[in-house]
Amino acid sequence: MDNKKVLLTIFGGTGDLAQRKLYPSLFRLYLKGQLKESFAVIGTARRPWTNNTYREVVQKAVASLAQTPEQAATFASHFYYQSHNVNDTEHYVALRDLADQLDEQYQLAGNRLFYLAMSPNFFGTIVHHLESQGMITTDGYHRVIIEKPFGTDYNSAETLNAEITDVFSETEIYRIDHYLGKEMIQNISAIRFANNIFESQWNNRYIANVQINIAEDLGVEERGGYYDKSGALKDMVQNHILQVLSLLAMEPPIEFSEKGIRQEKIKALEAIRIYKEDEVKEHFVRGQYAAGKRNDQTFASYREEENVAADSQTETFVAGKFYIDNFRWSGVPFYIRTGKRLTEKGTRINIVFKQVPVNVFKTSINEPCEQQSLEPNVLTIYIQPTEGFSLSLNGKEVGNGFDMHPVKLDYRNSSEILENTPEAYEKLLLDALNGDGTNFTHWDEVAQSWRIVDVIRHAWDHSTAEFPNYAAGSMGPKEADELLEKDGFKWIWSP
Ligand code: BG6
Repeated sequence: MDNKKVLLTIFGGTGDLAQRKLYPSLFRLYLKGQLKESFAVIGTARRPWTNNTYREVVQKAVASLAQTPEQAATFASHFYYQSHNVNDTEHYVALRDLADQLDEQYQLAGNRLFYLAMSPNFFGTIVHHLESQGMITTDGYHRVIIEKPFGTDYNSAETLNAEITDVFSETEIYRIDHYLGKEMIQNISAIRFANNIFESQWNNRYIANVQINIAEDLGVEERGGYYDKSGALKDMVQNHILQVLSLLAMEPPIEFSEKGIRQEKIKALEAIRIYKEDEVKEHFVRGQYAAGKRNDQTFASYREEENVAADSQTETFVAGKFYIDNFRWSGVPFYIRTGKRLTEKGTRINIVFKQVPVNVFKTSINEPCEQQSLEPNVLTIYIQPTEGFSLSLNGKEVGNGFDMHPVKLDYRNSSEILENTPEAYEKLLLDALNGDGTNFTHWDEVAQSWRIVDVIRHAWDHSTAEFPNYAAGSMGPKEADELLEKDGFKWIWSP
């Protein structure tokens, strides 16, 4: 079967995600020959656009990547627009007719990939109509890609999942977490499982703590309406952070395959301790940005952002500590930190190793009375904006004495590599075309992540936060630092 002969139907085809991510990613696949002549895209949304308007939008979205305007135009000629009300059965009839026509015209072998890039409220309605209007009866494959958020808590996610699995089987469902398409997130497995130096130490005997940071410099921009109902916990922790954590914590898979990796990620997520509501305060910190300054720029507070309630209790920052109650990780805190309007944008992971059992260099030879402490060895994985890793070690300071001095082995992908790195969405679209679900989240992962996060949410919903509590342009409230200090640690990344 040629997987890349395909009809892709995008629900939400006029939206921001489609224009900023999906069309450029499809174009890159086209430039690389992954999509050839046999592909067609139907974009649907409510707006009454024509094919021509739609193609102009697509052309514009890929213009900066195209060698010539003709190249962009030829690509865009594969795109068709269908004005669509998701609740109107007639519209699915028209959609099916168009799909059948394109199937024949482009010789698509009946392969259909549906991309749901709109509010989850409509997912159930859409998939049931796809089935009842005969859109998934063709000979080829039928797959559905689903954008986050997958539910707003465990119960709503379960309902949503039941609706989708009524029509599509688990192997046909591709739940997107775009972090899983990032180059350096995929590299976590390479670092761990291809380097004995790390995997042999990857446990509670050698690792003191793990720190996952996803910091953003931006505020909520024009997404206040969505964000004020969501907050950082649901927007970032339930999905991206717990996915990264599961990749760091999982056991080595028997083989590097969809089944192997998913099994181990699920086991890791299941081993994360679910706190009781009254324990949340001790282990989690929430924050919301006040007005603030970064360099010469001044920023308004979150509560002043568009579509945000003036007395909003929504958190724009979360720091917390997870424990993984299994043999490998018992006792090792996994600290997480994410927020908007922080000092700078950066996703990085710090693996902090335990100290040597005895510090034989305790006293400085140069200054016999002076106590010398050793810095811990830290493996840092830089996810973005730079990509690479570094390992900090202790060396001897040059000279006659024996004073310790931290040194760093640092590797960063070059700007040339960065430029040619496929975008997360490009990788994930290609995976979905190839039928490879490794970098998508299985229902069991989504479900367990909601169970973990729901308790934290409930605890917060039952108490009033003293917001705002950090200045825009800072690294969050001071309680986030105290969270580690009370365990005798500190954030390795403190810009
Ligand atoms: C999205 C969140 O999932 O991830 C956004 O909804 C956030 O609020 C974004 O800004 C961060 O993604 P990235 O790739 O820019 O780190």
